[in-house]
Amino acid sequence: MKRLSILGSTGSIGRNALSVVAEHPKEFKVVGLAAGKNLKVLVEQIKAVRPVRVSVQTAALARELKNCLSPGECPDILVGEEGAAAVAADPEVDLVVSAMVGAVGLTPTWAAIQAGKTVALANKETLVAAGPLVMAAVAQNGAALIPVDSEHSAIFQALAGHSREEVRRLWLTGHSREEVRRLWLTASGGPFRTWPKEELAKVTPAQALKHPNWSMGAKITVDSATMMNKALEVIEASVLFGLPVSQIEVYLHPQSIIHSLVEFVDGSVLAQLGWPDMRLPIAYALTYPRRLPLRSEPLDLGKVASLTFEVPDLERFPALRLGYAAATAGGTMPAVLNAANEVAVAAFLDSRLSFLGIPRVVEETMACHQIEPLESLAQVLEVNAWARRQAQHLISKGTIT
Ligand SMILES: NC(=O)c1ccc[n+]([C@@H]2O[C@H](COP(=O)([O-])OP(=O)(O)OC[C@H]3O[C@@H](n4cnc5c(N)ncnc54)[C@H](OP(=O)(O)O)[C@@H]3O)[C@@H](O)[C@H]2O)c1
Repeated sequence: MKRLSILGSTGSIGRNALSVVAEHPKEFKVVGLAAGKNLKVLVEQIKAVRPVRVSVQTAALARELKNCLSPGECPDILVGEEGAAAVAADPEVDLVVSAMVGAVGLTPTWAAIQAGKTVALANKETLVAAGPLVMAAVAQNGAALIPVDSEHSAIFQALAGHSREEVRRLWLTGHSREEVRRLWLTASGGPFRTWPKEELAKVTPAQALKHPNWSMGAKITVDSATMMNKALEVIEASVLFGLPVSQIEVYLHPQSIIHSLVEFVDGSVLAQLGWPDMRLPIAYALTYPRRLPLRSEPLDLGKVASLTFEVPDLERFPALRLGYAAATAGGTMPAVLNAANEVAVAAFLDSRLSFLGIPRVVEETMACHQIEPLESLAQVLEVNAWARRQAQHLISKGTIT
């Protein structure tokens, strides 16, 4: 039986992870849950899986949570970043699902890696902000990263037999890397794939929150609409698989059936297909290298009928261009891209910034940044805080609307 901690348990990925666990109660025991503020969902989860410890965002929420539970059902309640880090590093835990949203997931994911855990990683912002440091820490601490993002899971699955067998280092070895020509990430293109630029200027938060294929948390749904999600994923793929971004391509694939592809040097291309359902990559990450049966509708290609592909338009969706630029610049720049985007998306959702203002804020914040080589987690957290202040300043000044 695998013992799990789920960081971000109340979110979309967290809830999907718990639904996979509920389908296989003999395979998993949930030891820890870390949430933010959603006590209603957290209380239900505590009653369902009876974890040993949980963490919530503030001390006030911890008190409220205690009042919602009888003494017999109340786990240890921890608080804040430290609490989430303790849930992640718990010696009783074998595998940590890292599924908080944003750079707030960095410290607890880091704690899990320092404790040598296997981490099923959904929180892509961690790898974007601190990729090389995270990969070095994984190697130093005998930890393992298994991608949950559907695109990276698809590549991971397509590479099986080409990457080093042991999961501790899923990235390609020098030898097998030579066999890969390109990685192709697919993107649905979001709800505005075909919209002209003039219409994009008028997009409302409610429109951006309606993803055509996937049901996800608010931030990643907006990131999908701007294509910043794909920008983050290009950087994530580069870090995970150890390939430069010049070997990573993006194709729009509106049906979201092919989740990504690997092109080998002989011209052969391997892809992974399935309905857009995050339970599949989550289950694979929880049980790798085994596969468990999942209650899901079998893929019916007759019903899908056609699979189409388009080259993304970087003029209408500049976020993707910014992702390549940040990755190419390297050092602290991807952390700046990520932080500025988080602030800009929050401002957009709050109707303080237009949809097209999101990549503008990111680009201007990047332009103000003096790149430094990546050195430490503390430095990444400092750069993250600086970029947040800078992006906030640009938005409050009102020069970018
Ligand atoms: N959703 C998907 O299908 C999908 C696919 C691929 C990758 N991902 C990645 O997975 C991560 C999670 O995405 P999601 O869609 O599941 O997001 P989500 O639904 O918004 O959930 C976010 C989770 O993070 C928690 N959280 C937020 N701020 C926190 C804080 N300050 N302290 C503690 N917990 C905090 C939330 O807690 P409360 O709700 O309790 O406040 C919630 O549990 C993101 O990095 C995303 O890019 C998601």
